[in-house]
Order: sequence, then C-alpha cells, then structure tokens
Amino acid sequence: MGEVIVPSPADFHVHLRQGTLAKLVTPHVRKGGFTLAYVMPNLKPPITTTAQALAYKAELEAIDPTVEYLMTLYLSPDLTPEEIVKAKNAGIAGVKSYPRGVTTNSDGGIESYEMYYPVFEAMQRVDMVLNLHGEVPSDAATNIHVLNAEPQFLPHLHSLHKAFPRLRIVLEHATTRAAIDAVKECGPNVACTITAHHLALTVDDWAGQSFNFCKPVAKFPDDRAALRQVIKEGHPRFFLGSDSAPHLLHSKSTSTPTQGCAAGIYTSPILLPLVAHLLESFDALDKLQGFASTFGRSFYHRDLNAEQTHKVVLQKISAHVVEGKYGAGEESVVPFWAGKELGWKIVA
Ligand code: NCD
Ligand code: DOR
Ligand code: ZN
Ligand code: ZN
Repeated sequence: MGEVIVPSPADFHVHLRQGTLAKLVTPHVRKGGFTLAYVMPNLKPPITTTAQALAYKAELEAIDPTVEYLMTLYLSPDLTPEEIVKAKNAGIAGVKSYPRGVTTNSDGGIESYEMYYPVFEAMQRVDMVLNLHGEVPSDAATNIHVLNAEPQFLPHLHSLHKAFPRLRIVLEHATTRAAIDAVKECGPNVACTITAHHLALTVDDWAGQSFNFCKPVAKFPDDRAALRQVIKEGHPRFFLGSDSAPHLLHSKSTSTPTQGCAAGIYTSPILLPLVAHLLESFDALDKLQGFASTFGRSFYHRDLNAEQTHKVVLQKISAHVVEGKYGAGEESVVPFWAGKELGWKIVA
C-alpha cells in the first residue's frame, strides 16, 4: 500500500510551551500532520484558571490559527468547583493532574486525591475530562522508582473511576502492560493515550541516551508489546497523545553531578509519518485512522462531519530523513529519531 489517508489527525496530549519556544514548536503541530492539539497546562506558572487558559489559547492561535487547540487546567488546590463551571462554559476541555515532583514543572502537583473530590464531582456534573499523569512519586522507603511508578498508580485510577463512574478519565501516556489491562477493565468512560515514542523504545534505549529520556520512562519489551497489541486490536479507548515535550538543546544534552537532563521527547514535527512508520512495523497500519484521529475524537466528542474533515495524505517513501534540529544555536530543539529514516511522508 503506497498511500494512506487520515481524516483530521488529532494529538490528544502535547506540550506547546510559551514565549519563544512556543513560537518555534507550535507550527510543528501542523507540520507533523495534525489539526487538533490537546494542550498541556504545565507552564511556568501553571495554567490554573480559565482566564489564563484563554490567554494561552490566544497566544497559540496567534502563532498558528489553523489548528484547533483544546485547553486544559492544571489540578491544584486553587481549583474550585465554581472555576470548573466557568472553565466548561469557556470551552476548556479537561483538567490534568500531575503527582508532585514526578515530571517537568510538577512541583505544584497532587499528593492525595480525596481533597479534590468536590472538583471531580463538578467535573463529572458538567462533563469535563480528567487527564491523569499516572505515576506515583519515587520513594525509597516503599521501593517506588521510575520502573514501577505507573503500576503503583493504577489503584488510584480504579478508585477514582469507582467514586466517579460518569467522570470521563484519560490515563495519559501508558507505558506498561498493567496499565493497558487496567484501562481495559474500566468502563467506557475511561480511555488511555499512547505516545509514538513508547511504541519504539524500551529501557535499553534511554539508559544513557538523554534524547530518549522522558517521564514515564519506556519500560520492558513485554510492556511495549502490550501497547502495540492494543493498537493492533483497534481498541477504541486507546488513542494517540504524543506527549511531544520540547526542551532546549542545552537542557537535554547537558547534565551535571547535581542536575540531570530534562525529561521529554520531541515528536511534533514528524508525528504522523512517525506513527505510520511505527504502526507499519508491527503490522497495524490499517489502524492508523482510528488511533490517530477517530478514536480520540469520539471519546472527546470532537467527531467531524465530511465538510470539516481535513484529509492528510501520507505516501510511502524509501527514505524520509528526520531533521537534526529545529531552530538555531541555543534556541534549538532536537526531534526524536534525528537523522534516522522514516518510511512515510506527508504529501498533502
Ligand atoms: C521550558 C519552558 O517552558 O520555557 N519548558 C519546561 O520545562 N516546561 C523550556 C525548556 O525547558 O526548554
Ligand atoms: O517527559 C515528560 N516531559 N513527561 C511529562 O509528563 C512532562 C513533559 C514535559 O513537560 O517536559
Ligand atoms: Zn504526563
Ligand atoms: Zn505530557
């Protein structure tokens, strides 16, 4: 098959940053084939109010108005049920929860969920989505570390789903077989995003290679097999959220005895060709349309009619070489698989 058409590809988890970095990376959403971006709120300071989210949306629209930006709020003690109602009325789609200290700009994240039950109750009532960064913080005393932080989180997913069965929940960037099984066990209101890079990487690929380092870290070959399998099955509650997370070259490439490299893998500019390449590699290219567009759109109630649909055409090609970097000098970002060859290219 030499050509694949994807209707209005949608990336249901992406970091677009702010200021000059936003100017560099936001146009790459469209370059990578996507017309919808579900935008993460972990800025400095984090997006915690409707007013901030709308201002951020305007900033992104000024950079590239051809993409639909779905905005999110960062779960914090400042967030009230009243603000949820306001956010819903302003078209904000979801609320992202980050466990404290686990990843980029998550110092303000959550420690226990009970205190947020009034907020979740309001979200359930007005139908806003809860996006979970599904890891618990590392803790030597209880043997919690990057490799088991996601399985250890799953009881929280089950108890939230049980307490709020009508709340739509997305477990973000799943990396383990245990997470896939847990989401499958839940009902139709619980879904899961999977990144492109977690379909490619395992532990061996990021150990000592900072450009393959992100949170949650890529796990074992058997976990990767479970991510691939659920896509191959065409399960409609598992869809693409790239977690494309750009960091400037120096914060990725330089580490010191006290400061490690930043967590995050940058896939936006090559996203659709990369996903096609990966799905083809495990014989699931026929699921590209569902995985990269219709499944997520359907969960988020963003279905398209024929008129709105923007068809992206991918063509099989022998060697589409990934750029080494975008931007100049200190102000540059290095994409995933820089210098490697992809088997697909966007032609229209
Ligand atoms: C930084 C930013 O947003 O300015 N990103 C981040 O950590 N959230 C830039 C960067 O780290 O490169
Ligand atoms: O690797 C990551 N980078 N994981 C996250 O959850 C956040 C992201 C970022 O913002 O850099
Ligand atoms: Zn996350
Ligand atoms: Zn993320």
